[in-house]
Amino acid sequence: MKRRHSVGNKEFNPETLALGYGYEAHLSEGSLKPPVFLTSTFQFESAQAGKRFFELAYGLRRADVGEQQGLIYSRLNNPNLQIFEERMAAWDQAELGATFASGMAAISTVMLGLLRPGDRILSTAPVYGGTHYLFERILPLFGVQTTFVRAGSDAVALMRTELDKPDGRRVRLLFTETPANPSLVHTDIAALRAIADELASQRDQRVVVAVDNTFLGPVFQRPAPLGADLVIYSATKFIGGHSDLVAGLVTGPRELMAPVLEFRTILGTMTTPFNGWLLLRSLETLSVRMRRQAKNARVLARLLAEHPRVKRVNYPGLLQEGTTQREIFERQCTGPGSLVSFELDGGESEAFRTIDRFEVFRLAVSLGGTESLVEHPMSMTHADVPPAELEALGVTAGLIRISVGLEHLSDLKRDLLHALDG
Ligand SMILES: Cc1ncc(COP(=O)(O)O)c(C=O)c1O
Repeated sequence: MKRRHSVGNKEFNPETLALGYGYEAHLSEGSLKPPVFLTSTFQFESAQAGKRFFELAYGLRRADVGEQQGLIYSRLNNPNLQIFEERMAAWDQAELGATFASGMAAISTVMLGLLRPGDRILSTAPVYGGTHYLFERILPLFGVQTTFVRAGSDAVALMRTELDKPDGRRVRLLFTETPANPSLVHTDIAALRAIADELASQRDQRVVVAVDNTFLGPVFQRPAPLGADLVIYSATKFIGGHSDLVAGLVTGPRELMAPVLEFRTILGTMTTPFNGWLLLRSLETLSVRMRRQAKNARVLARLLAEHPRVKRVNYPGLLQEGTTQREIFERQCTGPGSLVSFELDGGESEAFRTIDRFEVFRLAVSLGGTESLVEHPMSMTHADVPPAELEALGVTAGLIRISVGLEHLSDLKRDLLHALDG
C-alpha cells in the first residue's frame, strides 16, 4: 500500500495503514512483510548518487520535486524505522515521525534539539520518574531549567501564574504527560495550545507544546489535532506491546522535527533495524490490544472501587460526571486505557504485602505489554522524586499501579481479589 488516500481522497484508517502503508513489496523480492534490513550502511549506485544523498541529508540543497531522501547509513535512516515512522505519523496526523532507542532518548533528544541555555520548560507534575530526573538533574547542566505545576484541571491556571513571574519570559516549551503517570490525572491539551499561542503572539517567538502520549495514545488520544506540536511516546509500552523491546517515538511538523532529527543523527539516539521491525509487527495489533486491555481494566477498576480496603481508585473510566476532569477526558480521549492506580490504607507496608500476593500480575515496572504488571510508584518508577513532593501530587506510599494485560478476565479478577483479601 503506497498511498495514504484511497479513491475519493478519503484517508484510510490507521489500523489499515498499519498493515501495509509505506512498504513496497516489489523492492524486497515480493516479500509480503517487510524484511529486517539488518545493515549498518547502504551501497550507493554511483559516487554522484552518494553525494546527492548527503547533500539532502545535511540540508546543503533543497530536494528536487518528487525526490526522496536516499538510504545512507542506519544512524541516519533505515527502511524498518522509516516504514514505522510513516505509519505512526499517519496515526498521529503529523508530518513526520522519528524512532528512538527509548522513550527517554526521545524526550532527551527533543529537549536538546529545541532548547538552548537560558530557556525554561513549564511542565505538569507528576511525570514519569526518568523525565523528572532529566528535567531536574540533567537539563540544568546545559542551562535549561524546569518549573513544575500540578497536573490536572488547575494546571493551566497554575501555568499562567508561573508565566507572569520574571522567569516566565524564558519559557520556550510546555510539557505535559496526560494522563499523568501514575496519578492518571488529565491536563487540557487545547488549553495549553491557547497559552502557547498567546505567548507566541506577545513575544514573536514560537512556544512548543509537547505531550507525552504514552498512556492512551495513539488509539485513545491524539494530541496533534487538539493543538500539540510534538507527540512523544515510550514505544516500549503499548506500541511495542509485548515487553520485549525498549524504544521511543516523536511525531510532529517538519519544521520542529528537523532539529530533532538532526540531533538524533549526531547523538545516535535512534533505535536498531530489528527493533524497527518488531515495532512494525506490534503496530498491526495495537488497536485490538489496547481496546481489549481497556475492556479488562474497566472491570477491574470497578472491582477495586467497590472493595473495602481501597481508599481511592484513579482510572479515567471512573471519573465522576460533572467534574472538570471528566469534561477534559471526554473532550480529548476516546477510551480510558488500561492503567489503574489505587490507594490502600497502611502506607508502604500494606502496599508491599498486597503487591507480593499477586500471582497473575507480575511485579515489574513498565506497562502496556500483553501481560498484567503491578508496581509501587513511590519506591520504584518515581523513586528519584522526593516522597513529600509525591505525596502532594497524590502519589502516596499506599498507592499501587497496575497495567492490565490480555489474560483471561476471570483469572485477573481472582488474582486481584486474592491479593486484596489476603
Ligand atoms: C509516561 C512515560 N514516558 C516515558 C517513559 C520512558 O520510556 P522508556 O522507558 O522507553 O525510556 C516512561 C517509562 O516508563 C513512561 O511511563
